[in-house]
Amino acid sequence: MNAVTDAVTPALPAPIGLLAELTHRCPLRCPYCSNPLELDKRSGELDTAAWQRVLTEAAALGVLHVHLSGGEPTARQDIVEITRTCAELGLYSNLITSGVAGALGKLDALYDAGLDHVQLSIQAAEAANAERIGGLKNAQPQKFAFAERVVALGLPLTLNAVIHRGNIHEVATLIDLAVTLGAKRLEVAHTQYYGWAYVNRAALMPAKPDVDRSIRIVEEARERLKGRLVIDLVVPDYYAKYPKACAGGWGRRLMNVTPAGKVLPCHAAETIPGLEFWNVRDRSLGEIWAQSPAFQAYRGTAWMKEPCRSCDRREKDWGGCRCQALALAGDAAATDPACSLSPLHAKVQALAIAESALETAPDYQYRTIGGAPLVTQPEGVTA
Ligand code: SF4
Ligand code: FES
Repeated sequence: MNAVTDAVTPALPAPIGLLAELTHRCPLRCPYCSNPLELDKRSGELDTAAWQRVLTEAAALGVLHVHLSGGEPTARQDIVEITRTCAELGLYSNLITSGVAGALGKLDALYDAGLDHVQLSIQAAEAANAERIGGLKNAQPQKFAFAERVVALGLPLTLNAVIHRGNIHEVATLIDLAVTLGAKRLEVAHTQYYGWAYVNRAALMPAKPDVDRSIRIVEEARERLKGRLVIDLVVPDYYAKYPKACAGGWGRRLMNVTPAGKVLPCHAAETIPGLEFWNVRDRSLGEIWAQSPAFQAYRGTAWMKEPCRSCDRREKDWGGCRCQALALAGDAAATDPACSLSPLHAKVQALAIAESALETAPDYQYRTIGGAPLVTQPEGVTA
């Protein structure tokens, strides 16, 4: 064992996934982006050698999957080199991309470097709507050309469609589109309200009857398309009965490395005040996984309050999402208000219903690097 693997004890299993946020730069400006409001600038990004060291440490630690993400990961000049390093280390690489700007021009080289899988975002099925949501003209034909080349290369293609008030009427056509483009998998992912999505919540919140209808459409299509298309469904938290096990449980399965090298237990962890995040510039990934104060803060169940503390689901969903508990209830150690057992759940549902009932949705506050002067935080709920 080397120094990296020494840090992992039998009581602390290795993480299986690494989300490598290579850059926050992105040609799209989606209002549902879960990136933080203060985006890392290019000048602060880790360089190629640092990422290669991180990937080497990840492999030694036991990580199996690396999600090359951002922002738009193909905006990095060294994306091919980084992908090749994943392949050399035996790490399964998944490119999470918008498929626009220079992405297509790099695709063949990424394939040659050993890329394993592509996850392509799609903002809507109808081009004008997609381009309004993503904030980039002429994006849709670029995405279609990108998807076509992915399939021609024989790479498995997943389409990721974030669903909200502005495209929930297109779920059926998005499913048809996934089949037409030759995707093997489609993620129908109702918006999770973090980062830019949280400040755009009132613009994005769908009505409950529309959510129910979209779920029925997915269920019918799953049956009809068995063997051709797998459809993953992420239900909207605010209308859920039980919360998701966010990030697979805090500090249990995933590590998230930001463009500037901070290592987070989940992508929104920086919104929780008082947490100390260690940086790959200063420490090894193994040391961070085992000892970083941020990873230890909500690992396991000892930190839980009631009703989670005595709930028999506490090792299934790990109390839901800490960042959502903080955003909505003002306490990161509270039961996620998405849970029907939370005393705040009814208020969260009422809030969602009120926002979705607005006759005219507010304008989007588009994601932008370098400040978000118009952004205001929406209200939470209190006991
Ligand atoms: Fe999960 Fe806590 Fe709700 Fe139980 S009370 S279902 S552990 S969030
Ligand atoms: Fe941070 Fe869910 S996003 S715990």
